[in-house]
Amino acid sequence: MLPSFKSVPRQIRSNHLRTSRKQWHVRSIVLALLGLLMCQGLIDSVQNRNNKVTKVIPTDFDALDLPPTDAQERSGRQIPLFSLESFSNSSYQYQHGLGAGKEGSVDLYKNRESGEAVVVKRYGDSPEISWTQLPSRIDVLSDSIPKQWPNEASAGLVIEAICGTEATRDRIVPLRGMFFGRLDGRQQSPAWHLITPFMPHGSVGKLAKDLRRERGLSIQDLDIQFRPAFEGLLAVLARIHAQGLCHDDVKAGNVLVHDNVTHWSLSDFGQVRGVAHPYHSTWLWIHAQQWTNCKFNDVRRALKMYMDFLRKACDNPDHFDEEFYAGRTAWSRLYWEYFQSPISAQFVMDLSRSHMPGSLPSMLGPAGQPPGRVPLRAMLPKSTVRRLAIDLELSTRLRGSREHRWVKSAFFGWDIEMVAT
Ligand SMILES: Nc1ncnc2c1ncn2[C@@H]1O[C@H](COP(=O)(O)OP(=O)(O)O)[C@@H](O)[C@H]1O
Ligand SMILES: [Mg+2]
Repeated sequence: MLPSFKSVPRQIRSNHLRTSRKQWHVRSIVLALLGLLMCQGLIDSVQNRNNKVTKVIPTDFDALDLPPTDAQERSGRQIPLFSLESFSNSSYQYQHGLGAGKEGSVDLYKNRESGEAVVVKRYGDSPEISWTQLPSRIDVLSDSIPKQWPNEASAGLVIEAICGTEATRDRIVPLRGMFFGRLDGRQQSPAWHLITPFMPHGSVGKLAKDLRRERGLSIQDLDIQFRPAFEGLLAVLARIHAQGLCHDDVKAGNVLVHDNVTHWSLSDFGQVRGVAHPYHSTWLWIHAQQWTNCKFNDVRRALKMYMDFLRKACDNPDHFDEEFYAGRTAWSRLYWEYFQSPISAQFVMDLSRSHMPGSLPSMLGPAGQPPGRVPLRAMLPKSTVRRLAIDLELSTRLRGSREHRWVKSAFFGWDIEMVAT
């Protein structure tokens, strides 16, 4: 027979009560923490959704204060709007895909008669795409053509007009045409298609891999050969910025390479926004480690991209990693001096010329004091820590701040610049 409650000794009863009170406390603390986490998650997801709506607010390109010469040139310019039929009938044949992202797919087509290759970017209906009004001077022949097209079409035309002078004309990938329709049987709904000339050497990311495999050049030789290409990119950014626009997506995949591989052109104008666009002050943008001053941010991304190109293309990436933080070379000085006090693309061109390969730098870089005791750092070889730190430093990916902060604190300490050589 079980003993009645009264028969349980007082001592045991009070112990039992104390334990259950303790359990109750622990449970309520755990529940409160879970509640807080859920609230935080809810706030984050609402904020995220609102910020994504802000991200695609269209830029009013017509309201830009373009100089009269550009405006005249723009109004007199033929807008390259093809009809679907004229594209399909001119013997362009699908070759293969080149990529597919949030906005849609990018495919290669070749003209069977002339052999000319073009790239066709098909825009899906993702909520991540920003749409702008078709310019009023376009005669839309059919009612089935929507009155809006992707931001990239408007931005591409404006940037072509802005960069139309001799110095920058071939530093951007021009739009060959656009059309609306269903290109082949596989696609479910009609869509906007943008056509650009095919650049067979692909992007700067691919060039770096090809150079490493085929040539094995030193960092200094690469810097001598390719610094003018980087400065050409800065010249384009300087022109775009002067007209109140930012590219907002400068990275190796969006810089394409000509037959002469030391000649680069900026492409992918899908993220181009006005300088004062509200997206630049959203939580999403700032927490993805981007700067609210989008002009400085474009230049910063271009510098990261160029450094990463040197690192990936050179014969000895360990040597790059040693020199990067040491700041003893012209290229690493250029990088750190920019971060000490960010300046406009125009001024970075001047800075770059005063830091030509082979020139003697005046000051050393942030070769550093150790960041103190960092558990994961202590377990890894120094060169691995440095490699990881530089991977993070030169990344142009829009990463979440939590991911970034976690890696920084776990491996390097709080201040990444303190990762010593
Ligand atoms: N004109 C082109 N010539 C050669 N490759 C191209 C061209 N346009 C795009 N690509 C390739 O397709 C990829 C994706 O194109 P992009 O225009 O950047 O679209 P997304 O919006 O998906 O980033 C580029 O990184 C590049 O490798
Ligand atoms: Mg791209």
